[in-house]
Amino acid sequence: MSEAASYDNLNAQNHTDPRPDESAGFVTPAQRKKRTSNWIKFGIPVLIIVIVAAVVGGVVGSRKKHSSAATADSSSPSASAASASAAASSAASAKLALGRFATATESDYMMPIYPSTTDSAAFGSPTFVSSSNSQNSWPMDPFQPSNPDVLTVRQDRPRLIAPAYKWAALPTLIANDPYLQGWNATIFGNATAYYSEPPVIYFLDDSSGILDNARAIKERVKAFSYVYRMTNDTTWVNRLWEEIQNAAGNGTTDFGPDEDRWNSGHFLDTAELSAAYGIAYDWLYDVWSQDQKDMMLSTLLKYGLNPGVTQVTTSAGWWRVNTTGNWNCVCNSGLTIASLAILGDDTTGVAKQLLQTTVDNAIQNCAQAVSDDGTWAETANYWYFGTTGHAEMAASLLSATGSDYGLLKSNPNFVKTGDFHMYVTGATSLFNYGDHGPNKYSTTANSMIFYADFFNEPQYALFQRDQWDAADPWSMFWYDPTIAGAFWDGKPLDNFFDNGLDQWGSMRSTWTDTNALYVAMKAGMNLGHQNHNDLDCGDFVLDALGTRWAGELGSGDYNAPNYFVGETQTDPRWMYYRKMTEGQNTILINQANQNVNAAPTVQHGTSNTTQGPTTVLEVDTNSTAYFTADLSSAYFDATSMKRGVRLLNGRKQVLLQDEIDASESVMWRMHTNATVSIESGGTSATLTLDGQTMKVAMLNPPSGAAFTTSAAQRFPSDPTPPAPDQPNPGVTVLIISLPAGTYTLEVLFNPQWPGSVNYVTPPSVALDQWTLTSHDSS
Ligand SMILES: *[C@@H]1O[C@H](CO)[C@@H](O)[C@H](O)[C@H]1NC(C)=O
Ligand SMILES: *[C@@H]1O[C@H](CO)[C@@H](O)[C@H](O)[C@H]1NC(C)=O
Ligand SMILES: *[C@@H]1O[C@H](CO)[C@@H](O)[C@H](O)[C@H]1NC(C)=O
Ligand SMILES: *[C@@H]1O[C@H](CO)[C@@H](O)[C@H](O)[C@H]1NC(C)=O
Ligand SMILES: *[C@@H]1O[C@H](CO)[C@@H](O)[C@H](O)[C@H]1NC(C)=O
Ligand SMILES: *[C@@H]1O[C@H](CO)[C@@H](O)[C@H](O)[C@H]1NC(C)=O
Ligand SMILES: *[C@@H]1O[C@H](CO)[C@@H](O)[C@H](O)[C@H]1NC(C)=O
Ligand SMILES: *[C@@H]1O[C@H](CO)[C@@H](O)[C@H](O)[C@H]1NC(C)=O
Repeated sequence: MSEAASYDNLNAQNHTDPRPDESAGFVTPAQRKKRTSNWIKFGIPVLIIVIVAAVVGGVVGSRKKHSSAATADSSSPSASAASASAAASSAASAKLALGRFATATESDYMMPIYPSTTDSAAFGSPTFVSSSNSQNSWPMDPFQPSNPDVLTVRQDRPRLIAPAYKWAALPTLIANDPYLQGWNATIFGNATAYYSEPPVIYFLDDSSGILDNARAIKERVKAFSYVYRMTNDTTWVNRLWEEIQNAAGNGTTDFGPDEDRWNSGHFLDTAELSAAYGIAYDWLYDVWSQDQKDMMLSTLLKYGLNPGVTQVTTSAGWWRVNTTGNWNCVCNSGLTIASLAILGDDTTGVAKQLLQTTVDNAIQNCAQAVSDDGTWAETANYWYFGTTGHAEMAASLLSATGSDYGLLKSNPNFVKTGDFHMYVTGATSLFNYGDHGPNKYSTTANSMIFYADFFNEPQYALFQRDQWDAADPWSMFWYDPTIAGAFWDGKPLDNFFDNGLDQWGSMRSTWTDTNALYVAMKAGMNLGHQNHNDLDCGDFVLDALGTRWAGELGSGDYNAPNYFVGETQTDPRWMYYRKMTEGQNTILINQANQNVNAAPTVQHGTSNTTQGPTTVLEVDTNSTAYFTADLSSAYFDATSMKRGVRLLNGRKQVLLQDEIDASESVMWRMHTNATVSIESGGTSATLTLDGQTMKVAMLNPPSGAAFTTSAAQRFPSDPTPPAPDQPNPGVTVLIISLPAGTYTLEVLFNPQWPGSVNYVTPPSVALDQWTLTSHDSS
C-alpha cells in the first residue's frame, strides 16, 4: 500500500465513532452528579410474580441450538437430563419471582445493582432449559435449507433477524418473561418519543461524517417497525415512511448533496443507512405499496449499494484489506443486510454481486478482530461497534439463508470475546484503555445475547440482560427466555488474556457489587490496534468502594490533525497528552514515550476463586491473583523495567510493584479524579472521592522517594502537538519522581472499607519470585 493510500486509510479512520464531547454525552468529573440516596432507578417494579407451570413440566422436545455441548440433549432425554432440566426450570421460575435488577444511574455504564442474597435456587449455573412444547421457547424455524446458499433466501418475510414465526411467538413470550416485558415497554416508549420528534436532521460532522444521523435513523427504523408489527397500527408505518423519505432527500429538509446523500466517503455512514433501509424494506414488506418499495429500492441502490460496489471493487474500500476492526464489520454488515433485504426484487444484480464478496471478506477480517484469547483488536469500547456489526450480519444471514457461512466459528476463538467483554467490564465501568468515547444507544452489547444462544454460552446473555442497554428490538429475538441461572455462578473472578498483541489481566473481589475491588492492567503491543491504542504498557485501572481511583483519560480530539497517524515513534499521535506515555498510569522514563515496537512478556497466577450462587461473596484471605510484565522492550533508557500488580488480604488490598534499572529519570504516574492529600514525609497519601477514602503508601521507599501531584497535562519541554490537547478537568496525577537509578517501588493501595478490616503489610518479594503464596502473612 502506498504512503498516500495508507494515509487516507488512517484519515478515514478519523471518523470511526462518536467523540467524547459534551453533546455526545461525555461527562467530566466536575459535571458528575453527586451521589445521593436517590441513586437507584428501578427499570420496572422489582417483583414480578410470573411463574409458569408449563416451564417446569416442559422438558421434552428438541431445542434447535446450533451447538448443544452443555445443554441436555432433550430429543431423547435421559432421566438425569430431565431432572437437570427440571431443576433449571425451577431456577428460571425462582429468578422470575425476583424480577429484574435495578441499575446504578450514577456509574458511567449504569451497572446493575445486584440484590444481596444467597439464593441458590435462582442463582445456579447458567443454563438454557431444553423445551419446545412450553410457551417459553421459540418454535422450530420452518426454514431449514439442507444446502444453504447466500443467494437463496427464505420465501416468507421478514427475512432479517426476526422471521414471521418469531413474531408470532413473541406476545406469549413477552407475557411470561420480565426481561422481554421490560424491553418491549422500553422500545414502545422510545418509539413514542421518536414519533413526536422531526425526522433526523442532516448534520455533517467533521470527525464522524453523518454516522450519528445514520445510527439514529437505523434506531428509529427498528423501533417504528417493531411497534407497527406488534400493534398493526399503520400510524407507525407512516411515521417510518417520513423518516425513509427524509433520508432519501425527499423530505421537508435537505439531506446531503444529491449525488452522494449517504456520504460514501465515510462508508460507515452509508453502510448503517443501507442497513436501516434494508430493515425497513424487509420488516414492513407486506405493508409497503409497490410504489414505496420501488422508491426505497432505487434510493438504496443509488446512495447505498452502488457506492458499495465501488467500495468492493476499487481501493476506495480500504477497510476490506487487513482491517481487523469495527470498520470491516460495520461496512460488510450494512451491505449484507441491505442486499439480503432486496434480493429477488433487485433486477440490477448489485445485491448478488455484493453478497458474493461481503461474507468472505468479513470472515477474513471482521471475524479475526478477536485474538486467540478473546480480546478485541481495537479497544474495549470499539468492541461494541465491531460486535454489533458482526452479530447483526451473522443473525441476518442465518435467518435469511439458514447459515452464517463460518462468520461465527471460522475464528475458533471468537466465542471468547464474550469473556473479553465481561472481564473488561469493571465494578464501575470498563477498563477503557486507548480510544473510547461514551457508550451510545445505537451500539449496544446485545451481541452478547446473540452469542450466548449461538455458542451455547448462557452466561453471556445472563450478564447482558441486566445491563441498561439491553432493551433493543434485536434482543427481543435473540434472547432465549428459557435461560436460567446466574452468570456469576461458577465464574472465575480473574482472567488473563495473554496473546502477545494484548496481554492484560482482570482481577476482582466479586462480580455482583458495584463497590467491588477491580484491578486491570495491560502490557501488550503498542501497535496493531487499528490506530486506537495509546503508548501504555503497564497501564492500569483500579475500582473500589463504588468509584474509580486510577482511571483513563479516554480519546483525544478525533479532529486534531494527524490524530490517527501513529505508526512510528515520532508520529503526531504520540504528541497528544492522552495518547502519550505521560498520559497513562504507568512508568515514564526520561519523560519519553514508550517504544512503539514494544513487545512485553507477562506472567500471572490466580487462586482460581470462582463465585458461587451467592451475590455476597466472602473469599478466603489467601484468595489472590497477580499479573506481572517485563516491559523492558517498551523503554529506551532502561536496561530493565518490570511491573506487577497483585491482590492481597482476601482481595481487599492491592500491591503495585515496579523494578526499574534506568539510565535516565524515572517517574511513577497515576491519573485520578480523587482529591489527593500527601502526608508529611511524602511516602503516603490519602485520596478522597465520592465520599470514599483510599490510602496509598510506599513500602520500603527508596531514599528520596516522595509523592507529589501535578495537573494532567504535557510537560512544557514536550514537543508541541499539531493541535492543543483537550483539558482534563478534575484530574490529578499522583507522581513519584526519581533520578536515574535502580529501584524497587512498592505502592500499597488500601481502600478504606466499612467495618473493621485488618490491613496487612506484605513482605517485599522480587517480581520474579511472585507466587500465589509469596505474600501470605506468616
Ligand atoms: C409491549 O409494550 C406496550 C407498551 O407498554 C404494551 O402496550 C404492549 O401490550 C406490550 N406487548 C405485549 C405483547 O405485552
Ligand atoms: C429509551 O427509553 C429508555 C427508558 O425510558 C431511556 O432510558 C433511553 O434513553 C431511551 N433511548 C433512546 C435512544 O431514546
Ligand atoms: C396483526 O396482524 C397479524 C396478521 O393479520 C395478526 O397475526 C396479528 O395477530 C395482529 N396483531 C395484533 C396485535 O393485532
Ligand atoms: C426520492 O425521490 C427520488 C426523485 O423523485 C426518487 O427517485 C426516489 O425513489 C425517492 N425515494 C424515496 C425513498 O422516497
Ligand atoms: C496485509 O497484511 C499482511 C500481513 O501483515 C501484509 O503482508 C500485507 O502486505 C498487508 N496488505 C496490505 C494491502 O497492506
Ligand atoms: C474521571 O471520571 C470520569 C467520569 O466518571 C471518568 O470517565 C474518567 O475516566 C475518570 N478519570 C480518571 C483519571 O479516573
Ligand atoms: C488454576 O487453574 C489453572 C488452569 O486450570 C491451573 O493451571 C492452576 O494450577 C490452578 N491454580 C490453582 C491455585 O488451583
Ligand atoms: C487457601 O486456604 C485454604 C484453607 O486455609 C486452603 O484449603 C487452600 O488450599 C488455600 N488456597 C491457596 C490458593 O493457597
